[in-house]
Amino acid sequence: MKKIKVLTGITTSGTPHLGNYVGAIRPAIAASHTDNVDSFYFMADLHSLIKCDDPKRVDQSTFEIAATWLACNLNPDKVTFYRQSDVPEISELCWILTCVTAKGLMNRAHAYKAQVQSNIANDTGDPDKGITMGLFSYPILMAADILMFNAHRVPVGKDQIQHLEMARDIAGRFNHHYGKHFVLPEAVVSEETAVLKGLDGRKMSKSYDNTIPLFVPEKKLRKLIMKIKTNSLEPGEPKDPEECALFQIFAAFASKEEIAAKHNQYAEGAGWGVLKQELFEFLNEHLKDYRNQYERLMQDINYVQEVLQKGAEKARSVAQPLLNEVKRAVGIRPLLKV
Ligand code: TRP
Repeated sequence: MKKIKVLTGITTSGTPHLGNYVGAIRPAIAASHTDNVDSFYFMADLHSLIKCDDPKRVDQSTFEIAATWLACNLNPDKVTFYRQSDVPEISELCWILTCVTAKGLMNRAHAYKAQVQSNIANDTGDPDKGITMGLFSYPILMAADILMFNAHRVPVGKDQIQHLEMARDIAGRFNHHYGKHFVLPEAVVSEETAVLKGLDGRKMSKSYDNTIPLFVPEKKLRKLIMKIKTNSLEPGEPKDPEECALFQIFAAFASKEEIAAKHNQYAEGAGWGVLKQELFEFLNEHLKDYRNQYERLMQDINYVQEVLQKGAEKARSVAQPLLNEVKRAVGIRPLLKV
């Protein structure tokens, strides 16, 4: 049976938070345990350079994210788990793809357009102010990540759908001109995995600085939960769980029965203080073992490095033959020994 290839990456510009875990890491690990998939998960460190010019942060984030995957029981023997920059074939493919990508396609990318709009709105006098070529061609590097492994499915957040369409477009153009070498990848956007709300009630995101890091120490976790914004309803007054960040975080970890019981508590008017304390205890119970494992891994960076080295070898053994094929297709053949 031909396996389906599933691939996804996380940009290494911050510390993994509850939203990353529920939205990306947990479902990806679950998928990797099914038999008919071949999974590729990686740390997108080359992508991080686009948003982050702090070398310490890039390095720290890379190991935090790698240790997080491993702490959450990713089995590196069952998947291909690597750092993007350790697979130089990706960067090489990126250039070849750059040469078939229409500039007009990149002009339409949301992230680039948003920055141009904001420069115009703020009267900066230069619509391209602060925009690097990295930001502009971000979608091509992402296409290279995906096409390098001929991935069929790419689980991503809604904000990445356009990038997947661009990857298909680029693959299609290459195939049309040079023959069929690339699979056209599909975005998998899961509707049921909640987009968690953060401390201030907006989407939990590094860019809003409202996250709950996945593995903060117990005391800090409690403190952060106590900070989650709620409304001014008093104990005894019925509360609506649907719009509530506390309830939503609870629900992302709870069973059906636990969710139903919590619903009742809201209807019966439990106080915010009690609900917060209970969320803390519940979440802490769920994260404790993973957190211990994470802390052990962060103390044993050599082990993490070893895993990543093996992962890179595995990834390169898939990437090299395809890159050679692609190079031949464009007219760059290997030199024969003389
Ligand atoms: N751009 C993605 C994000 O910001 C991260 C990423 C980089 C990625 N390369 C990828 C995701 C390839 C999926 C496939 O979330």
